[in-house]
Amino acid sequence: MRTLDFANGDTLPMLGLGTWKSKPGEVYEAVKAAISLGYRHIDCAHIYGNEAEVGQALEEAISGGAVRREQLWITSKLWNNAHAPEDVQPALRETLANLRLDYLDLYLMHWPVAQKKDAVFPKSGADLIALEQLPVADTWGGMEQLVDAGLARHIGVSNFSVAKLRRLIDSARIKPAMNQIELHPYLQQNAMLEFCQQVGIHVTAYSPLGSSDRPAGMKADDEPVLLEDATVQRIADAHQASPAQVLLAWALQRGTAAIPKSVNPERMKQNLAAADLALNDNDIAALADLERHRRYVDGATWALPDSGYTVANLWDE
Ligand code: A2P
Repeated sequence: MRTLDFANGDTLPMLGLGTWKSKPGEVYEAVKAAISLGYRHIDCAHIYGNEAEVGQALEEAISGGAVRREQLWITSKLWNNAHAPEDVQPALRETLANLRLDYLDLYLMHWPVAQKKDAVFPKSGADLIALEQLPVADTWGGMEQLVDAGLARHIGVSNFSVAKLRRLIDSARIKPAMNQIELHPYLQQNAMLEFCQQVGIHVTAYSPLGSSDRPAGMKADDEPVLLEDATVQRIADAHQASPAQVLLAWALQRGTAAIPKSVNPERMKQNLAAADLALNDNDIAALADLERHRRYVDGATWALPDSGYTVANLWDE
């Protein structure tokens, strides 16, 4: 498995297992199966509501000798209601307790969005806190302390625009090591990739398969289904591969990590094998033509009246 490399010698296996939308009751089996199939990178988040089950699977895999802790790369994410600097370390400690780990490989600020502590998901603008009041830089200060304390080996962000990354880099003592963003042939993020390469920030592609199992409230009626795209299908047929494998090979060939979610061992195996699929120049050119700037996860959840957040200012577009 190809890796993304870090200055301290750590290596991130580029293909990982996503756990967003993996239900408690399913994710325990999924993580155990993934580890026995050879996955060594698991992507988690507090807000997914399933970290305790992931943790049970991790503990059993480690104590049973299937894998050693240091062979695994475990990522998790700080939720928006714990952005006050003094709330950051307690939030990570809760995640570590759930995951039954004593450190994370990577901890990400999940969104550049701050919420009141008692609001898990905002119902009105009053549940949100403007970034002018609780700046990203303050939260980042709390994140930096996690590295100092040895609780997170690396820290980074998710859903950040280039403009927000630039501002963060200007004020940060520890540069973010990662930006995890939605990334697939319908949302190629070329400018972001170029910027991150210039400044030495790795990129992870979330929703690399188009996340068709998103909750109904996050889906548009007319949205294109990435896994059914005719070009993707044609390339898959030519390589005797599946559409999912084409999408994942594309992500890896562009130098990004990818975290397809699955709870199905056959699909997990297929997704991991995508690391061995080599797309040719014609395939890459045909996939480049699919760009349509389609965000499946558009951040509209935070764009509530009187919140100060809009979809436009979230992405700086
Ligand atoms: P399942 O968990 O039943 O396998 P994303 O990673 O973009 O969020 O996409 C996740 C969705 O894609 C889930 O519905 C998942 O279903 C499905 N999926 C994962 N791997 C494959 C695959 N190899 N082929 C088809 N669908 C897949």
